[in-house]
Amino acid sequence: MVTMEQLISLAKRRGFIFQGSEIYGGMAGIYDFGPYGVELLNNIKKSWWKENIQSRDNYVGLDSAIFKDPRVWEASGHVGGFSDPLAECKNCNTRIRVDKELARVGVTADEKMTEVQLNELFDAHRKEIKCPQCGKTEFSSVKAFNLLVKSNLGDFTNEGNATVYLPGEACQGIYLNFKNVVDTTRMKIPFGIAQIGKAFRNEISPRNFLFRTREFEQADTQFFVKPNENKEAYDRIKNERWNWYISLGIKEENLRWKQHDNLVFYAKDAWDIEYNFPTYGFDEVEGIHDRTDYDLTQHMKHSGTDLKYTDPFTVEKYIPWILETSMGLGRVFLAVLSDAYVEEGGGDTARTVLKLAPHLAPITCAVFPLLKNKPELVEKAESVYKQLRKHFRCEFDDNGNIGKRYRRQDEIGTPWCIVIDFDTLGDPSAQTGNPDLLDTVTVRDRDTGMQERVKISELEQCIASKLNK
Ligand code: GAP
Repeated sequence: MVTMEQLISLAKRRGFIFQGSEIYGGMAGIYDFGPYGVELLNNIKKSWWKENIQSRDNYVGLDSAIFKDPRVWEASGHVGGFSDPLAECKNCNTRIRVDKELARVGVTADEKMTEVQLNELFDAHRKEIKCPQCGKTEFSSVKAFNLLVKSNLGDFTNEGNATVYLPGEACQGIYLNFKNVVDTTRMKIPFGIAQIGKAFRNEISPRNFLFRTREFEQADTQFFVKPNENKEAYDRIKNERWNWYISLGIKEENLRWKQHDNLVFYAKDAWDIEYNFPTYGFDEVEGIHDRTDYDLTQHMKHSGTDLKYTDPFTVEKYIPWILETSMGLGRVFLAVLSDAYVEEGGGDTARTVLKLAPHLAPITCAVFPLLKNKPELVEKAESVYKQLRKHFRCEFDDNGNIGKRYRRQDEIGTPWCIVIDFDTLGDPSAQTGNPDLLDTVTVRDRDTGMQERVKISELEQCIASKLNK
């Protein structure tokens, strides 16, 4: 199995992921998606959007603003209750997340514990917990550290203004617009709103590459149901979410369910889909939460706006319950990359290949002239490339020998490489000299290495049908 080091190395070397602000020394827990990374990320988003909005009648999309009225985060419970327990090593000042360190020695810190209770629990196990940096066991007392990131939007005087936070979770924008969607569309309960949005958390110890970062993107769906009519929809949603991961080509044995017995403040029931990450093992990629009427009730109270839904047939009024799916795009990206990573062969035939599902691959097809120094081959290859790039994300490469070009494309997961050779030109001195091969090219399959000859006039259709298989 691939290690996290191998993934990080490939991601950097081939322009998938860069450390944020790298030329200034980098920022902890912040990453940028490079040229191939953004293509893969966008393809994951496209697949998610198609699955959750495009292919459904009762879901609509949204893109809400990052900045929200400060009262939103009071109402949501994040100002009061969105914190991690933190302690500091007295020797080297490293900050630790107490719940994670306790979990390492088999002790569970309940999400709802007060600071006093956390200190009692920590004191009882203090000697078993070592600083991950220096190995010492002397720590400060435990403090609840709020994860919300503050901004100074609109704070021109530095006094009097309430803090405007960056979103601690992207989904709040959906609750704020629930009424707008009901009033402006024909959506009737049960229906869903889906959104991809940024979230920011002051994570105490960002770690494991894209797994725990301070800035990340969430893809959320919120499904609004009649109170107590949550069971059937919850089962459906869980099933569909699982199947979506399989549609990405992720191996089923690398996925598993985990039900939470330690619930976050807004949830009545919570399940995680976990992925078997390299080096670190199974951990959460997506949370599926039964949030009941918690969010709309809170926003009703704090905003004074009536968010009750009126059933158009029975005229019954109620606050809808919400079933949420919330997926971290960075974590899915990492899972997809890790699941696709294979090292094969040895000696001259050794290769690293990303066996990505074709619809996720950053580049769909690459076009090569057999030789760089034959203008007629290059010219023909360029014309094929220009034709294909109108329809697919395509790359042209004439650098180095064909074997090297194949390896370069294998490493970024390109499913098909197309070669223009002398047979394409109908050159009688070509390998086969077969006149029927005029205006045909070879299409090489990434996973099997097999090549087929395809007419240039049928190439677009050939790639499209492979892609949509
Ligand atoms: N709205 C619900 C919510 O935010 P969550 O379990 O805190 O629930 C949902 O987050 C998903 O967001 C997680 O399953 C994970 O994939 C992702 N996520 C959470 N914190 C993250 C972090 N610090 N870095 C990267 N992804 C994170």
